[in-house]
Amino acid sequence: KGCKLVGCGSAVPNLMISNDDLAKIVETSDEWISVRTGICNRRVLSGEDGLTGLAVEAAKKALNMAEVDPDDVDLILMCSSTPDDLFGSATQIQRALGCKRNPLAYDITAACSGFVLGLVSAACHIRGGGFQNVLVIGADALSRYVDWTDRGTCILFGDAAGAVLVQACDGSEDGLFSFDLHSDGEGQKYLNALVKDDETEHVLGSNGSVAGFPPRRSSYSHIQMNGKEVFRFTVRCVPQSIESALEKAGLMASDVDWLLLHQANQRIIDAVATRLGVPPERVLSNLANYGNTSAASIPLALDEAIRSGKVLSGHTIAVAGFGAGLTWGSAIVRW
Ligand code: ACO
Repeated sequence: KGCKLVGCGSAVPNLMISNDDLAKIVETSDEWISVRTGICNRRVLSGEDGLTGLAVEAAKKALNMAEVDPDDVDLILMCSSTPDDLFGSATQIQRALGCKRNPLAYDITAACSGFVLGLVSAACHIRGGGFQNVLVIGADALSRYVDWTDRGTCILFGDAAGAVLVQACDGSEDGLFSFDLHSDGEGQKYLNALVKDDETEHVLGSNGSVAGFPPRRSSYSHIQMNGKEVFRFTVRCVPQSIESALEKAGLMASDVDWLLLHQANQRIIDAVATRLGVPPERVLSNLANYGNTSAASIPLALDEAIRSGKVLSGHTIAVAGFGAGLTWGSAIVRW
């Protein structure tokens, strides 16, 4: 059984923060940020209908393009590390889309690799589980966990949502050729936002009646990152992963029309493309406008490239996500 991409959509918040805006709150400059990262602007959620609202907007556009009714969606995968609800947002997206047949909806937490893992999960559900129309959404609002006084990280991230509809099809039309997925918990120390258990005042009785049971109020600490180590890991592991996915598909780097990497940093994108021998004109990049939008970055860039007529029907795209966990993975897909 095959599966193919039949629709895409994206949504970004209205509030735009430029490098010059950031230079007013931390000691940095437009030149430093753009030279080191390629980022000029980013969007930040403020007053919109939460991340769920952005995800719903992106999903509606994908369904529209695919000409698929919300009632015909049988699975929604919300790939996000920053959902509006700790327990996940997929069911709220299902509700807002008005999918009356109540598709299965659940969240996938895998940081910037989330969307690639969502694509793989969609393919598995279609091939092994008989699902027909799977909505894969990548959405994140890392602005919620950024330390806006840390110039090493606050310059990098932005908020967005992107979505694709993956549909069951005949094996001869298959558009998801191969995958290559990895994770390495040893690298968690290089990029994380860990839970903080703040022990609060004992509210269960002033006489200390419930020993050993301190009530806690938990939250997450800001994003902590060792930029140099993340950079090194990416440039080492991502080209290997793409080569492995290409090999599984029986393709070479020269066979793909486009290279679409998670939009973390232009220097990472350039380094990976150079290692693979893919020329700049075949590399998709839009991070100048949006920064690193985590799980949203790949479907956001894909949607822009499709709607602007760069990516055409029948084009082959090598996609790779990488980030916290550490996690990384590649997929070779056809639009
Ligand atoms: N403006 C001005 N100076 C800065 C800034 C800033 N925004 N940030 C750091 N600096 C300073 C540092 O303080 C340091 O100064 P010092 O030499 O006086 O100590 C100097 O610039 C160099 O700092 P480094 O951290 O070594 O800078 P580096 O060249 O490594 O660039 C960067 C930092 C851009 C973060 C880079 O390491 C990088 O891009 N790494 C990859 C990170 C990434 O992409 N993470 C996300 C991927 S995973 C995911 O998407 C969740």
